[in-house]
Order: sequence, then structure tokens, then C-alpha cells
Amino acid sequence: MTTQGGSGKSRFEDIYEQPDPRAYFTRLAPLEYEIPHHAQPVFRRAAAERAALDDGRARPPAVLDLCCSYGINAALLNHEVTLAELYERYTSPAVQALTSTELADLDKEFYAERRRPDAVPVLGLDVSAPAVGYARAVGLLDGSFTDNLELGPPGGELSHALGDVGLVTVTGGGSYVTARTFTALLTQAQRPLWISTFVLRTVSYGPIERALAAAGLRTDLDAGHTYPQRRFTGPREQRYAVEAVRAAGHDPAGREQAGRFHTLYYASRPV
Ligand SMILES: C[S@@+](CC[C@H](N)C(=O)[O-])C[C@H]1O[C@@H](n2cnc3c(N)ncnc32)[C@H](O)[C@@H]1O
Repeated sequence: MTTQGGSGKSRFEDIYEQPDPRAYFTRLAPLEYEIPHHAQPVFRRAAAERAALDDGRARPPAVLDLCCSYGINAALLNHEVTLAELYERYTSPAVQALTSTELADLDKEFYAERRRPDAVPVLGLDVSAPAVGYARAVGLLDGSFTDNLELGPPGGELSHALGDVGLVTVTGGGSYVTARTFTALLTQAQRPLWISTFVLRTVSYGPIERALAAAGLRTDLDAGHTYPQRRFTGPREQRYAVEAVRAAGHDPAGREQAGRFHTLYYASRPV
């Protein structure tokens, strides 16, 4: 079921809470949800650059994928796989016939066979316990957490794990988390923390950028380069998005007016 949120953006909460990713891919396929595909080379580059930075610690820095859901960014970061292949896999008739446990067993092999030699440790944070549980069970995440940092500080396990994090990545989460979540992450960081986020142009990144600046991070943005996220669910959602991007000072021509949400890429690093 797709419902219209108060903001005008459609909501998909039910597909975030399933025991495996099939409903997620099946629902989003007709909308051509594509932002993890555009993020894949950007996050691979950021992770490699962050890993190459000598911060005086022996252990490689971990990537924390915020709003990680079923571990899609972790799959694309550390495995020889494309988003198109994941859509094909999780919407195929053969896979629909499996139980979640059977699918998880197959996925373990699928990802293990495709693991890249330069794979980096990835932690996942998402309020959906079934989604992060699946990602961890099939080997996509080295650690998984369900703390809601919009509501309170991280618990002991997440606080401890954050000490190893060197890069935070986000796709599809800009409508769900605010400066509160980023401030909480930064408070626990013990290594130089880089933040790589793709955020819809309908959402203001200003409050997060200011919170990051207060913690000593400078944010870079190439405002001319947008990355499509997905098709609109209908004319109502499109009207909302066109108005919202205009109000934010962007030009919707050829982008939101052409039928898709577009994102901007923000990269923050310590000054
Ligand atoms: C659109 S999905 C994005 C999933 C994935 N990153 C991708 O791009 O395919 C948004 C996710 O944000 C999660 N979420 C919502 N509120 C959150 C919060 N306060 N903290 C962490 N995750 C949250 C939802 O459970 C959902 O899995």
C-alpha cells in the first residue's frame, strides 16, 4: 500500500518492515527507484579515499550506512553486483516461490561469491529490525543497529561501534532523519568522520549542514549535478515536488517537471 504523507511525498513504510527485500524491490521497480545505483561509484570512491587516510588507527575505518534498510548500499559497495541485477533477482518468479529462510540461504552464497577483494567493514543503522536483521544474516553487514537517534542518544552497543566509523553514507533517508541523528553520530565519533549523503531537492539540508559545521565539518555540493531518485507515484506527488524545489530555490525544469525526484550529493569532511 502506498499512502500520501503529510508532506505530499508518498510513504512506503510497509515495505521497510518485511522479513526480506522482495516486497521492497517489487514495489519500487515500477517507480524505477535508482538512487543506490548512482551512489555506488560515489560511495566506492569515498570509502577508498577514507580508507587511504592514515588516522593513526590500525583497524580499517568502518562505513556506517544510515537508513540502510535491507543492506542495498552495502551490497553495491562490497560486491560485484548492480542495482539492476538486484531488481531482477528479487522480483523474479523463481525467487517469489521461496520462503524467507530459503532466500536468505541463497543470498548468503550469492553475496559471498561476489565479494570484492577490497571490501570494507559496513555497519547498518535503520529503525527496521527485520530489514537490518536480513542484511546481517546474509553477510552484507558486519554490525546492525536499530537505535532511533531522532528520539534519543545511541545505546551502548552502537556508541561503541561508532568509535570505528570513518564514513557515513545515506541514500533514501533524507526525509526521515534530521540534524538530531547526525549530531548524535558525531558525538560518538572517535575517528575523522566523513559524511556522504544523497538528499532529495525537496528537502532542505541546511540544518544538517549547520550541525556538521558546528562539529568542524565542511560540506561540499555541486549544485548543478543532480541524481534522479525515482519516478513520482502520480500527479499529486509531482505537483508537491515541483512546488517544494521551487520554494527551495531550484529549477524543476527537465528534472522534477520531467517526472522524477532528483537528489543532490553532499560530501562533508573535517576542515
Ligand atoms: C527509502 S528507504 C532507503 C533504504 C536504502 N538506503 C535505499 O536507498 O534503498 C528509507 C529507510 O529509512 C529508515 N528509517 C526511517 N526512519 C529512520 C530513523 N529515524 N533512523 C534510521 N532509519 C530510519 C526506514 O526504515 C527505511 O528502511
